[in-house]
This record gives sequence, structure tokens and C-alpha cells, in this order.
Amino acid sequence: MKANHCFVLLALLGLSFGTDVAHGSDLGGEATMDQGDNIVMVYEKYPMKIHCNLTNENGEVINGLPLDWLKDGQPVVPDDRIKIFQDNFTLLFTEALRTDTGDYKCELKTEDVIKPSRDFKVIWLVIKKMEKSLDITEKEKTVIECPVEGDPVPTVIWLKDRKPMADLIANDSRISLGPNSKNVPNGTLTITYSEKYDRGNYTCNITSLVETHGKWTYLRVKDTYAALWPFIGIVVEVVILGIIIVIFEKRRAKAEFDESDTDQGNDQ
Ligand SMILES: *[C@@H]1O[C@H](CO)[C@@H](O)[C@H](O)[C@H]1NC(C)=O
Ligand SMILES: *[C@@H]1O[C@H](CO)[C@@H](O)[C@H](O)[C@H]1NC(C)=O
Ligand SMILES: *[C@@H]1O[C@H](CO)[C@@H](O)[C@H](O)[C@H]1NC(C)=O
Ligand SMILES: *[C@@H]1O[C@H](CO)[C@@H](O)[C@H](O)[C@H]1NC(C)=O
Ligand SMILES: *[C@@H]1O[C@H](CO)[C@@H](O)[C@H](O)[C@H]1NC(C)=O
Repeated sequence: MKANHCFVLLALLGLSFGTDVAHGSDLGGEATMDQGDNIVMVYEKYPMKIHCNLTNENGEVINGLPLDWLKDGQPVVPDDRIKIFQDNFTLLFTEALRTDTGDYKCELKTEDVIKPSRDFKVIWLVIKKMEKSLDITEKEKTVIECPVEGDPVPTVIWLKDRKPMADLIANDSRISLGPNSKNVPNGTLTITYSEKYDRGNYTCNITSLVETHGKWTYLRVKDTYAALWPFIGIVVEVVILGIIIVIFEKRRAKAEFDESDTDQGNDQ
């Protein structure tokens, strides 16, 4: 139990120190596994344990016989990083790696044809941060990437303002889906020619074997002339100033003329 707590703590430290990297699950490997779904999440560079408590028909833990461990049908070969503890039915990875993903099986070493066994799936999922907002200029191309990768590859579904985009994507030729930079299908949403009404909350819903996560960004589409307005403002100001100066100068010239008129009158 102490080791378990320690692991969870390590995993949490990993979450807070891993800068912008967030793992798919806050659960430690064993915690996930004991929930009965037999799925263990890899936290890269952290210890990972698979505990195989085979039980008999009465629900009692079978002990006395050693276990065989298999990965994708092949025997697990212990090394510096991978340890098999027969006394507590544990397979320990001192430093889990992405490549440890796969289908694992522990089975009792018996001569029987039917060997009691348990299956485990080890998966890997990394979800990064998404920018909270994205500013695009009208008519420009918008590319929104769902920052996920995993093994097995998770599924991605896009929502706009919390509504599934499937119809929108099917009916609007400007909008299309493609793989993201990590090759996750439907991981990138592209709008070839952005319009004002594309503004909104874009969410990618990521579904892995264990759970679903949503990552979102708020897209703002600016006017093409948005950058031009301050410049136009200055031009208008200069023109008005110019007109005022011209009018003022004309008035002054006229006043001087009138003045010289009267002067002449006085001279007469
Ligand atoms: C042993 O396995 C059973 C079911 O397979 C599970 O309910 C139980 O929590 C497990 N116990 C431990 C200590 O792993
Ligand atoms: C199993 O035993 C080994 C040493 O024999 C120990 O290092 C490890 O923490 C134990 N694992 C569990 C889950 O008790
Ligand atoms: C965007 O949508 C998601 C759900 O799809 C929601 O959790 C989030 O709060 C929304 N963000 C904004 C700014 O509305
Ligand atoms: C990608 O999205 C399209 C449209 O929403 C869907 O038909 C297709 O099945 C998805 N592909 C995958 C691999 O999820
Ligand atoms: C998209 O087309 C489908 C049928 O092809 C239709 O049922 C749906 O209402 C359309 N959605 C929009 C947003 O136009």
C-alpha cells in the first residue's frame, strides 16, 4: 500500500513537472488495474506494476505455484528493467516505456490443459495542452490540431460549441479532417477559407480504452481590414487636419485682403 501511494505521488509529480504534458489518466497503473478493467496506463520513465492475483471458484487467491508472464503471446524476459516477483505475483517495470504497451497474460505454471490466467492491456496515452484561443484573419486557413498521441491510437471526434461537427464537416467543403502530426486519424481540423461565422468553441473529444477527454480552443475570426482600420483612421485624421488648415489659411488670406482694402480706403 505504501509503495502504491508512493507510485501515485510519483505519477502526480510527473504530471506537475512534465510542463505542458498531461497524461491521459490520473490513476496509477495498479489503481486502474484493480478497478477490474485490467487496463494499465504507462507513465513513461515511472515504475509500473502488474499484479496478478488469480482466484479459484471460491474467490480465494491461488498461491503455491509460480506464474508465467506473457506479452503478446511471447514469454516476458526479465532484465535490468523488468522484474518478475513470484512470491507476490507481480510483474514490475522499474521504468515503464512506451514500447511496453501490449496484451499481457499471467498464467499458472501447471501441466493442466486449462491454466488459470488473467489478461491485462497496457496502454499509453499523452494529451498536451491546447491554446485557449486562436485568432485568424478572415479568408485565411485555420488549422486546429488535437494534441494527442497514444497506443492503441485513440479516436477523435470534433465538436463546435458543444455540438458534434459531423454534419457540418460533411456539408461544408471548406472544412475537412486529417491526421494530426502524430498520425492520429481525424486529429487535425482544417478550414481552408475562414469566415466570420466560423467563430466558436472547437473541442476535440479523445476516447481511449479507459476514458474520454475534451480539449478545446476558442476560434476568433478577424475582419480582413482589422489591421487596416488604425491606418485608415490616421489617414482620415490627416486629411481632415489638412482641410481645416486650408480653410483656415483661405479665411486668413481673405481677412488680410479685406484689411488691406480698408487700409487703402483709409489712405485715400
Ligand atoms: C484480486 O482480484 C480480484 C478480482 O479479480 C479483485 O477484485 C481484487 O481487488 C484483487 N485484489 C488485489 C489485492 O489485487
Ligand atoms: C513484491 O516483492 C518484491 C520483493 O520481493 C518487492 O520489491 C515488491 O515491492 C513487492 N510488490 C508488491 C506489490 O508487494
Ligand atoms: C468549450 O466547450 C467545452 C466542451 O465542449 C467546455 O468544456 C468549455 O468550457 C468551452 N469553453 C468556452 C470558453 O466556452
Ligand atoms: C473521422 O471522421 C469522419 C467524419 O466525422 C468519420 O466518418 C470517420 O469514421 C472518422 N475516422 C476515424 C478513424 O475515426
Ligand atoms: C447536412 O446534410 C445532412 C444530409 O446530408 C442534413 O440532414 C443536415 O441537416 C445538414 N446539416 C447542415 C448543418 O446543413
